[in-house]
Amino acid sequence: MVTAQDIADAANTIRAGGLVAFPTETVYGLAANALDATAVAQVFELKCRPQFDPLISHIADASQLTKLAREVPAQALELIEHFWPGPLSLVLKKQPQVPDIVTAGLSSFAIRCPDHEIARKLIRSAGVPLAAPSANRFGMISPTTATHVIEQFGDQLPIVLDDGPCRIGVESTVVSFVDSQDGRPMLLRPGGVTLEKLEEIIGPIEVPTLVSSRPTSPGQLSRHYSPATPLILSADSEKIVSANDKLKVGLMSFQRPHFTAGFAAIEVLSEQGCLREAAVNLFAAMRRLDALGLDIIVAQPVPEVELGRAIMDRLRRAAVS
Ligand code: TXA
Ligand code: MG
Repeated sequence: MVTAQDIADAANTIRAGGLVAFPTETVYGLAANALDATAVAQVFELKCRPQFDPLISHIADASQLTKLAREVPAQALELIEHFWPGPLSLVLKKQPQVPDIVTAGLSSFAIRCPDHEIARKLIRSAGVPLAAPSANRFGMISPTTATHVIEQFGDQLPIVLDDGPCRIGVESTVVSFVDSQDGRPMLLRPGGVTLEKLEEIIGPIEVPTLVSSRPTSPGQLSRHYSPATPLILSADSEKIVSANDKLKVGLMSFQRPHFTAGFAAIEVLSEQGCLREAAVNLFAAMRRLDALGLDIIVAQPVPEVELGRAIMDRLRRAAVS
């Protein structure tokens, strides 16, 4: 349980230029004062994150947006009205007070208002926006529990606010209003708010393919969210396990698998095939399999609709090829 005192201590640490791990509805974040370039530099250092990869700024309510964003297009406002607080980050033109290190030198920044009580209390209590990437080392699996964060950073990160497992389990959807030539919305990362829901509100959103992905959106780097064990994304898990009978093969199955023989370990993301439940379990299941000393993990694809887009995006980036 997170107490009022815990939040006050964490807020003091943020104001003093330190770092804090905190829960959100998507994944745990590693936060610094977004307006303090030196504090933000420590986030990059601790994560071993390259400085060309910009961070998301977190605010407690939409009213804080005008101080940070230079322009908010009408469609962005509509999305804010419908989906904030929630797992949606918007890429907008930034005000000069957002330091370059937060945005990797871009004139745009990503911003969201998390749908999480503790997160918003922390932001309010600190009195500043929080720049926060997921609280994992660069390229590794995102944390959905406080234990995941502690396993990764240990003593290097004294304050981890523990509010149990994250409700959504995959990161926020990132929609940009600055990356297409005419300012039309573009989906930079599928996430907790589905493309279908977004398009219901503002109509068509451009979805760039991986091949055309831009270096300005390093969340689109092809290898990311990776376990140390080689992960293969394949619908043919039966064939892979039979062809590799000398190897220890783990299975990450979407639903209850039809075929289980030969696998050294099996994780089922959702017995009933519910994408929402699968998203919640995805990263923790990947970590559990990764901890078993397997030779390969075979992940089965999920239907690429709704939250399945975010799950497939993470699985493709976790996969070796
Ligand atoms: O759910 C989330 O979004 C979590 C929690 C902690 O809020 N945060 C998170 O942050 O996933 P991170 O740093 O792991 O992902 C940030 C994403 C990256 O894909 C990054 O490239 C993109 O946001 N991004 C940030 N600023 C951008 C900008 N100015 N232009 C394009 N993409 C940007
Ligand atoms: Mg991340």
